[in-house]
Amino acid sequence: MDKSFNYVISPEISEFRKFSPKLKIGVLASGRGTNFQELINLSEKGELDIDIKVLITNKDDAGCIKRAESVEIPHKIIRGKDFPKKEIFELKIINTLINYDVELVVMAGWMKIVSPFFIKKFKNKIINIHPSLLPAYKGGSAIKESLVNGSKITGCSVHFVEEEVDSGALIMQAALSIRDDDDIESLSKRIQILEHKILPHSISHAGFLIRGNFMENY
Ligand code: GAR
Repeated sequence: MDKSFNYVISPEISEFRKFSPKLKIGVLASGRGTNFQELINLSEKGELDIDIKVLITNKDDAGCIKRAESVEIPHKIIRGKDFPKKEIFELKIINTLINYDVELVVMAGWMKIVSPFFIKKFKNKIINIHPSLLPAYKGGSAIKESLVNGSKITGCSVHFVEEEVDSGALIMQAALSIRDDDDIESLSKRIQILEHKILPHSISHAGFLIRGNFMENY
C-alpha cells in the first residue's frame, strides 16, 4: 500500500503533553480497533502518558477485543439489545467508566449515537474520531458519501462530543486528496493512517485541557 502521500494536519503535530500520573482513559469502540491499537502501542512505548483503564465495545466479535486481551486491558462487552431502554444501556456504560475512574472518554470507532443523558455525565470529557473533514459528511457513511459526491479532498477530524451528532469543538483535522481511482477501501486506508496520527495528539491536547480545568474557555 502507498504510505507516502501528501496530507495536511492542523494544528501542526507537536510533542505529546506529559501527564503524571498518566491520563486515565476509557475507550469505546465497535470495530477492528486499529485506532485503539495505536493508543496501546504509543502507551507501551512510553511515548503517550495514558493509562487505558478499560475498553468498552457493543459488538461480540469486534476486533478491538482481541487487542485488549493481548495486553490485558480490561474489556466489557455491553450490547444495546440486552437492555430494555437506551438510557439503561448507557447507564451501564457510564457506571463502567466511573468504576474505572476514567478522566477522558475516547470514541475510537464507536458506531452508536450517544444521548444527551450520556454526554451530560461526561461534559467536555468525550472525544470522537470521524472519517471526514467535519462539518462535511456527518454520520455513518462518510467515506462512501465523499466518493459519491465527487469530493476532491477529504480527511478525518477529532472533536469534543456534543449533543448534535458529529458536532462539537474540533480539536484536530487531517486532509488528503481523493484520487480518481479511489474506492472505499483505498481511501479508508489512507484516512486511517492519518487517524492514527491525529487521535493520539488530540487525546494529549484534550487531557491537557481537562487536567488544567481549561474546558470552560474552549
Ligand atoms: C475509523 O475510521 C473512525 O473514523 C470511524 O470508525 C473507524 C474505526 O476504525 N468512526 C466513525 O465512522 C464514527 N462515526 P478502527 O476500528 O480500525 O479504529
